[in-house]
Amino acid sequence: MSKTFKILRLAGDGVGPEVIDEACAVLEVAGGNAGAGFEFEDGLIGGAAIDAHGVPLSAEDLEKAKNADAVFLGAVGGPKWDHLPKETRPESGLLGLRKELGLFANLRPVKVFDALASASPLKDDIVRGADLMVVRELTGGLYFGQPSERTQDASGRSAVDTLPYHEAEIERIVELAFKLARQRRNKVTSVDKANVLNTSGLWREVATEVAGRYDDVEFEHALVDSCAMALISRPTSFDVMVMENLFGDILSDEAAVLAGSLGMLPSASLNGKAPTRRGTEAALFGMYEPVHGSAPDIAGQGKSNPVGAILSASMMLRFSFGLDQAADQVDQAVADTLDAGIRTGDIAAGGTPPVSTSELGAAIRDRLKG
Ligand code: IPM
Ligand code: MG
Repeated sequence: MSKTFKILRLAGDGVGPEVIDEACAVLEVAGGNAGAGFEFEDGLIGGAAIDAHGVPLSAEDLEKAKNADAVFLGAVGGPKWDHLPKETRPESGLLGLRKELGLFANLRPVKVFDALASASPLKDDIVRGADLMVVRELTGGLYFGQPSERTQDASGRSAVDTLPYHEAEIERIVELAFKLARQRRNKVTSVDKANVLNTSGLWREVATEVAGRYDDVEFEHALVDSCAMALISRPTSFDVMVMENLFGDILSDEAAVLAGSLGMLPSASLNGKAPTRRGTEAALFGMYEPVHGSAPDIAGQGKSNPVGAILSASMMLRFSFGLDQAADQVDQAVADTLDAGIRTGDIAAGGTPPVSTSELGAAIRDRLKG
């Protein structure tokens, strides 16, 4: 029996549409191989939505997202909308989606492909073999805490942001990190700033309690500042790293340096509990997006790297559709293509001319057709 999954495409701004196109074509081939089909619907987010509807995410598109099995997002933002106030900027569409869909768990795997170990500005022998997963809490902390505002009085300007966490928010994300570790290399590093922040003190306490239920998984705490250093000086010592929203935002960009290019990295944002409408056991509703942004400077020139989007499609196959084998095939096709030296400019090997976004996408699909 063949299954059909409903995917809402929110391609967004800049290079978003071109990488999402390539990744959807890969999904069709990989899904087809596994006997699954996809029904794509399109919506608007970010600057594209502001231009069309005056808001970065319309109520209709949010509704479409709620009714899909998965959301596939490209990128948001660009200089055209930079002057807008914070609440109406493209980024607030993305934050609204995360909050409204309850996507509290952001998974950002960073794997150094052997073929690209020398593409990182870090030394080859430091990054080779690195394979870690940043698990970022995505709907709490400083991003959403109130009050968050600017004020002004006779003495001058002030601003405040608030960093709140409830133990239940910490517990569910740390639990998820341990479950993921069991499917990987059985190690969790919990990152905080417990020597200064109250929220981190609570984070550490709760993480320790959760760890007690996973005796089979190696566990450590790390302070975010020294962890930032360890991440690039001994990246192979990490497996799953779990942390609050802002720490995860910062460390995941830092970790991207290991992979040679931000263009390589995928992400999944999960609500961790709701099964899909079809109620299949392995399936979770999720939003998938490449970690790179809209890269307005290269948009529309065929220069963007579609691998981050394609690996995000692979995560969608795995987490939302339960198609692990299809996901493995996509990952392998990406590795084989990179091994063959077929690469966009951001990761090109010396002497080999770079290929375009669509050429790299096509080369990956060819390997899937086998
Ligand atoms: C990310 C981005 C977003 C964030 C921005 C675009 C709001 O940097 O997904 O990491 O800060 O979460
Ligand atoms: Mg970020």
